[in-house]
Amino acid sequence: MGGNLSRHKDRRKKNAKHTLENESIQEQQFKYIGGRKFYDIYAFPTDIEEVDRLHQQHFALKRICGGNYTAPIRDIIKPGSRILDLGCGPGQWTLEIAQEFPHAQVFGIDISANFPTSIKPENSHFTVGDITKGLPWEDNYFDFVWMRYLFSAIKDADWLNLYREVKRVLKPGGIFEHHECDGFTTTAGPKLKKFQIPYEAAFISRGLNVRFACQLSERVTMAGFKDVQPSYISIAIGKHGGRIGEIWAANAKESCLAMKPWVTNFTDFTEDEYESIIRYAFDYEVDLYKAHHNHHIIWVRKIESYV
Ligand SMILES: C[S@@+](CC[C@H](N)C(=O)[O-])C[C@H]1O[C@@H](n2cnc3c(N)ncnc32)[C@H](O)[C@@H]1O
Repeated sequence: MGGNLSRHKDRRKKNAKHTLENESIQEQQFKYIGGRKFYDIYAFPTDIEEVDRLHQQHFALKRICGGNYTAPIRDIIKPGSRILDLGCGPGQWTLEIAQEFPHAQVFGIDISANFPTSIKPENSHFTVGDITKGLPWEDNYFDFVWMRYLFSAIKDADWLNLYREVKRVLKPGGIFEHHECDGFTTTAGPKLKKFQIPYEAAFISRGLNVRFACQLSERVTMAGFKDVQPSYISIAIGKHGGRIGEIWAANAKESCLAMKPWVTNFTDFTEDEYESIIRYAFDYEVDLYKAHHNHHIIWVRKIESYV
């Protein structure tokens, strides 16, 4: 028992140190390639154009998923509860949840300070930090932890530790919900298939797993969670998916174009050829082949006996 307590204290000390280190993510740690701003291994840029894309993606996903979460969190969020959004991006989900649960405290963390700093609900709080370096909160702190679309940011080898950290900061009885999209398109046509080869190679070169979404249940179970509730939604990409399908296609096209500077390192085609493949794939081919993206969801409750 004493051993456990001192181990937890050490971890808290270590995490407090991480907070200080994380808060000092400096401008020089970002690099500019082809006029876009990138951070470390993260596949997408972290600039203002990307903020627009993430906002559009957020509203599309909210419609696709029928809301901002699927787990029964209304049963557990009480006045004073704490909610955490890992890799919160511009913070739209965080802000909406802060409005929906005005008596809870809602926290967002991201390596890029693209979230609002002054005009925001009083119960929302944002921190700059690298979530692969330990979470800067004490054990059993949050009632609900949320994560969406980080497969392009977290190395395959880092997921286990991150999930363990999620379990550590969750209160017993608290809920964790995680959404990821399969990076591969189902029923992809020839142009998309041509893109997917260098795209996967580029991800592997950075230690990222383009198909991580398909392993959510298995991976979260490896971290000690039990009774995982999995589901998925197949998103029709393009006109065959109606207005949302068209928005999804435009958004996916932007995300692939944003990766152009580094994915083209793994091809023998030029940046112009890459661009025309992506434009043709998402403007036309997705409808010809009735392409879909599978959006995977898991939620799980931390049980007392795990602690
Ligand atoms: C695809 S965006 C998703 C944003 C948000 N979760 C959403 O669903 O709208 C991924 C986010 O992860 C952030 N990110 C990347 N690597 C990170 C890291 N190591 N620690 C914290 N955030 C990170 C990026 O800055 C970006 O905002």
